[in-house]
Amino acid sequence: MSDNVAAGAARRSQSVATGVFDLRRWLEKAKAIGQLTEVEGAELRFELGCITDLNAKRGGPPLLFKNFKGYKEGFRVQTGSMMNAATLGLTMGFEGALSDLEVVNKVAEILQSVESRAADFPVEYVTTGSVMENVVTGDDVDLTIFPTPTWHELDGGPYIGTACWQVFRDPDTGWVNVGTYRNQLLGKNVVGNLIDPGHHGDLIRRKYWNRGQPCPIAVGFGGHPLIFLMSMEQPGDHQRLQAVRPAGDLLSGRGGITGADEGDQGKMVALVQVM
Ligand SMILES: Cc1cc2nc3c(=O)[nH]c(=O)nc-3n(C[C@H](O)[C@H](O)[C@H](O)COP(=O)(O)O)c2cc1C
Repeated sequence: MSDNVAAGAARRSQSVATGVFDLRRWLEKAKAIGQLTEVEGAELRFELGCITDLNAKRGGPPLLFKNFKGYKEGFRVQTGSMMNAATLGLTMGFEGALSDLEVVNKVAEILQSVESRAADFPVEYVTTGSVMENVVTGDDVDLTIFPTPTWHELDGGPYIGTACWQVFRDPDTGWVNVGTYRNQLLGKNVVGNLIDPGHHGDLIRRKYWNRGQPCPIAVGFGGHPLIFLMSMEQPGDHQRLQAVRPAGDLLSGRGGITGADEGDQGKMVALVQVM
């Protein structure tokens, strides 16, 4: 065990998540730089997806959809978090207005050094955080309370997970991976899981299934866009591990969903364990 990991483990049980990956803070910052457009009352079936698509094609700002007919106030959907240089830069922690090329160069620079610098950012294990503000378990889990778009006319139904991230633990090695794999909402407490053959999530779940066991998965919806960025890209394993290790630890806990409810904050975060 490296010193950094040991130090992180020592802090376990003593601390609370500090909000480094805080989506609400990210939204505030996007608004402050003129990169957040709020959209009221869009239809979840096709209209939200269409607006998102048009906005993406012109490299527009992040969109924050709110006030859905039939859903509680405060439940929101955010799309297009990194469609231009300013918001990609914001997500990756760059200061100031950068051109597309400058952002590309900065990303390249960071990716070259991140592997060697990973040890400077030790994992800190925490026992709680805003994601644990609302916990629902067992039969009480009802994913239909969340506004869930049917994005395209050929989609089989609403997809609750698109820019989502799924955490798996390899049963042989303990290695933790995160990947973005879409989730169709199939029922009150059932989601489908579309994972292409060869992707880590598929390789790992088959290991459980081959033993006749269910595969535990932690799924994050509505997190900070940096987690999504790490989840759908192919960086070195270590980089990913740094981002997801704390989430992976949730795999040892009981299933549940934490998330949106009424209120000023308009909470968006949901975490589901699928057994
Ligand atoms: C918005 C978005 C949705 C995606 N949906 C899926 C999906 O449903 N299934 C899948 O296998 N890959 C999907 N991908 C691609 C994977 O996230 C990507 O290949 C990732 O690197 C997979 O991680 P892995 O190699 O650790 O399995 C999606 C990517 C993005 C950006």
